[in-house]
Amino acid sequence: DMPIFGHPVASWKRSVATSLIHTIYEPTIDTQNTMVFEEASKTSSLPEVSSQTKEKTVEVFDDQKHGVVLADSNQIITHCNSMFVELTGYNVNDVIGKNCRILQGKNTDQKTVEFIRAALKRGEGCQVMILNYRKNGVPFWNRLSIQPLLDKHGRIRKFVGIQIERSLPVSRFAPVMPWKVGIKKEGPRLLTVASESAVKESGELQILEEKKSKPKISLHDVSFVAETNLPTIKGKYRVRAYKDNKTRQEIMCIIWGKIEASSGLHVRAHDQCFTSEVLGSLKCDCKQQLDFAMEHIKKTSGMVIYLPQEGRGMGLAHKIKAYAVQEHGYDTVDAQHVLGFPDDSRTYAAIPGILQEMNIKSIKLMTNNPRKIRHLKALGIQIDSRIPIVTPTNKHSEGYLKTKHHRQGHMNVGEDR
Ligand SMILES: Cc1cc2nc3c(=O)[nH]c(=O)nc-3n(C[C@H](O)[C@H](O)[C@H](O)COP(=O)(O)O)c2cc1C
Repeated sequence: DMPIFGHPVASWKRSVATSLIHTIYEPTIDTQNTMVFEEASKTSSLPEVSSQTKEKTVEVFDDQKHGVVLADSNQIITHCNSMFVELTGYNVNDVIGKNCRILQGKNTDQKTVEFIRAALKRGEGCQVMILNYRKNGVPFWNRLSIQPLLDKHGRIRKFVGIQIERSLPVSRFAPVMPWKVGIKKEGPRLLTVASESAVKESGELQILEEKKSKPKISLHDVSFVAETNLPTIKGKYRVRAYKDNKTRQEIMCIIWGKIEASSGLHVRAHDQCFTSEVLGSLKCDCKQQLDFAMEHIKKTSGMVIYLPQEGRGMGLAHKIKAYAVQEHGYDTVDAQHVLGFPDDSRTYAAIPGILQEMNIKSIKLMTNNPRKIRHLKALGIQIDSRIPIVTPTNKHSEGYLKTKHHRQGHMNVGEDR
């Protein structure tokens, strides 16, 4: 059997779960015990579950649209609501006194289970998408949130678990999973992993693949803002500033030579990388690629188009979050999915406008990334040829570059210069 992908979410999102915890405890506030919300750094009071409040708690539980379980500090279930009973098919007496792992089964991803175990051991909450099984053996995807409730000394008093039945978001997962996730309907809202042949037959996946090969064309309107000469350690470049009028992003063109009205211009479309370019991070090869391109255009004349699309379009803070997820053993691509991002959300829709503004008719593209070539071509840019970028790896970036190569089809990765 193929493994099924579950995905932890790095930090506690102030979502349904947090508000539920508030809802659960709001009616019975007691200033004795303190509950700490890590992300919101907000403290509120947590009552002892006395027999009186217990009733109230259960009552509030039953208002919810989601499964809710309360467990003691040893993860033994002490309460569950009627939605949990409905969702899992277990009745109250089946589960009180048990550990929720009874919901796991043969295709539950063990990495996800480990992630939960590690988070709870550290006294942290977690959100995961995990494959669970109902009492009758029928599987379902569980968008599970677990939050420990701490007392003011930081000791775990209880755990709250919230279960939401979810379908796996196909658009984010299907095209990139190494074992190919297919979608097979087995009753309402039920998703499982299908064999590769079933995947081929799956209409939905085909649509995704079509989308992948033919990216949507929608050009962004750009405006030229200003140009200056900039002396740098590498030499004196021209810098032309543009504004993408759709995204409001500022795009910088770093230019060597007279490039206006040219054909076959050597161009690099480079996405910002604060961690390597500013901090000197060793986790990726972005800075080396930028250096390569800036040196290269000195020989041939050309342009580096510098786009503020940090973290493959996720933004800098999310990129840091993705790095945090990778510390749990996920590769770059999975980490992005874990955070709910596609593997690459960068857009190059402003580039045609920039080339047009300088009357550049065709380019030679410096890249190892087939997606970039596909996208630029789909945007109507004439690419005469590709100039490979070869940069040396180090022990920190090796894994990242391997992922780029194996999962995203990058070329020339890890070759000698
Ligand atoms: C309050 C609470 C609710 C939980 N709910 C679920 C659940 O719905 N599904 C599930 O697979 N695991 C759930 N778990 C996780 C398991 O109980 C357990 O922590 C996990 O399997 C990792 O530990 P283990 O390796 O000892 O099994 C829950 C845990 C707690 C504390």
